[in-house]
Amino acid sequence: MIAANWKMYKTPDEAVAFVRAFIPLVAHHSHAEIVLCPSPTLLPTVVDAARNTPAHIAAQTMHWLDQGAYTGETSPLQLKALGVTHVLIGHSERRQYFNETDESVNLKLKSALAHGLVPIVCVGELLAERESGQTAAVLERQTSVALGGIDPAAASPLVIAYEPVWAIGTGRTATPEIADEAHKIIRAQIAKSLSPALAASTRILYGGSVKPDNTASLCALDDIDGALVGGASLDPASFAQIVANSAAK
Ligand code: PGA
Repeated sequence: MIAANWKMYKTPDEAVAFVRAFIPLVAHHSHAEIVLCPSPTLLPTVVDAARNTPAHIAAQTMHWLDQGAYTGETSPLQLKALGVTHVLIGHSERRQYFNETDESVNLKLKSALAHGLVPIVCVGELLAERESGQTAAVLERQTSVALGGIDPAAASPLVIAYEPVWAIGTGRTATPEIADEAHKIIRAQIAKSLSPALAASTRILYGGSVKPDNTASLCALDDIDGALVGGASLDPASFAQIVANSAAK
């Protein structure tokens, strides 16, 4: 899976222009599930523009409840009604600026699975946590709380994105070795929390300053099953090149 996280960028016109330019560039690639994650106001436009193309559309977050008095929030029912099929959960910017916790990630994951949305759950350590030797403990905690009470029989759509916070938007990518080690920690936790079979089949993406020129070395590793791309996904040629280079495995 190669996913574009557009964050709070693009107007509807810019989003449509992206889709028109991007789709022909990836027409010959079928190795990756392509996902575009636009901000909420762009969702209907991008769902329309990407209809009958290989691109799937994800929301960048959602509430876990179907409806209610939650000003500013979006429910899974509303996303489904638009034709959205995937959802990012617990991105580090949501955790850092909007008080998302491991517990809210867990509620959102349960809700996404119940509604048939493909959840892409983001985990990752802060620089201070890495430097103080807490990376494994942080990844195990974030993963185990996210997966708490999840029925293994219903968990097969699950996707996890490992995004070390120090690598997001900084130009500082984790080396393939660092990413591989983290992915193995997350996979081992999935085995404990869900089952060894699910640990083997769950896709774990890497995110954090993924660019066309580092995609192949990351995606070549057995434990890296794709990428979640921020800055380099805003330009159609750059994102298409990432899709092409991800075929490295
Ligand atoms: P970046 O963002 O590629 O710009 O580092 C990744 C992300 O936040 O998902």
